Amino acid sequence: MQKNRIKLEFLVHDLKVPLAVIEAGISSLLQKQDKYGELSEKQLRVLQRALRNTIVIQRLVNDVLELGRSSEGVVNKTSFPVAEFVEAALVEIFDLTDHDTTERIRECRDLQALQSTLAQKGVYLDVIHGLWEKEVCLDESKTRQILRNLLNNALKYRKERLDIKIYEEDRCLCISVKDDGEGIPSTFHQKIFECYFQMDARSSHCVRGHGLGLAGVLVLLEDMGGSLVLDSDVGKGARFCVKIPF
Ligand SMILES: Nc1ncnc2c1ncn2[C@@H]1O[C@H](COP(=O)(O)OP(=O)(O)OP(=O)(O)O)[C@@H](O)[C@H]1O
Ligand SMILES: [Mg+2]
Repeated sequence: MQKNRIKLEFLVHDLKVPLAVIEAGISSLLQKQDKYGELSEKQLRVLQRALRNTIVIQRLVNDVLELGRSSEGVVNKTSFPVAEFVEAALVEIFDLTDHDTTERIRECRDLQALQSTLAQKGVYLDVIHGLWEKEVCLDESKTRQILRNLLNNALKYRKERLDIKIYEEDRCLCISVKDDGEGIPSTFHQKIFECYFQMDARSSHCVRGHGLGLAGVLVLLEDMGGSLVLDSDVGKGARFCVKIPF
């Protein structure tokens, strides 16, 4: 491993402790009001948002370390229901932008409830019969990270709608994420998977991005023996379809 990469990963690694202290502190204020004093409605909301965002940073730190682990080829397989990682990825995505939807997603008790909550946001989730509850044996963290990055892009570039399809094919879990945005010209179909590449680095879409998401998705997929197909053209939206063997 390169020396610089170890240094960088060590630095990210060491963010975990102060973040855990912040998380524990805010949680105490929220949960032990008898000990630390009663909170007003406004204070409660501020602290809840601070906690939520601390958790977002913690997840990001884990993701960075996960990517590092991934370039060492480490795969951590466990059994988990498809519903679990899809819900987790959706919560992570909406938690960044739309707290109300996050709360509603968390309250959903079944696939139908989730589908109607998402449809109100122009997100259409289609899962082949029986797959939602099925336990799959995959690297959960990597799979979630892949889905989250594809969803993040699709939400950023869509005009109105986003279609997620989850199905099974050739003993693989297949996830298709399709948006109705500007699309990607075929000349860029390879370039967009390179580190730090953005089609139009000056546009407002790119302000919050680094051009690293798709490069990361490819590294993770490679580790899991998966594959990705991109179907897109100018004015036709983009469809990213990943296939991960069980
Ligand atoms: N769904 C999409 N529609 C149109 N263009 C896309 C889409 N997904 C990715 N791209 C193009 O590919 C580029 C690279 O995507 P990638 O996810 O790697 O980076 P990013 O989203 O710009 O930043 P980051 O993911 O690091 O936050 C984007 O900047 C964009 O130009
Ligand atoms: Mg991205």
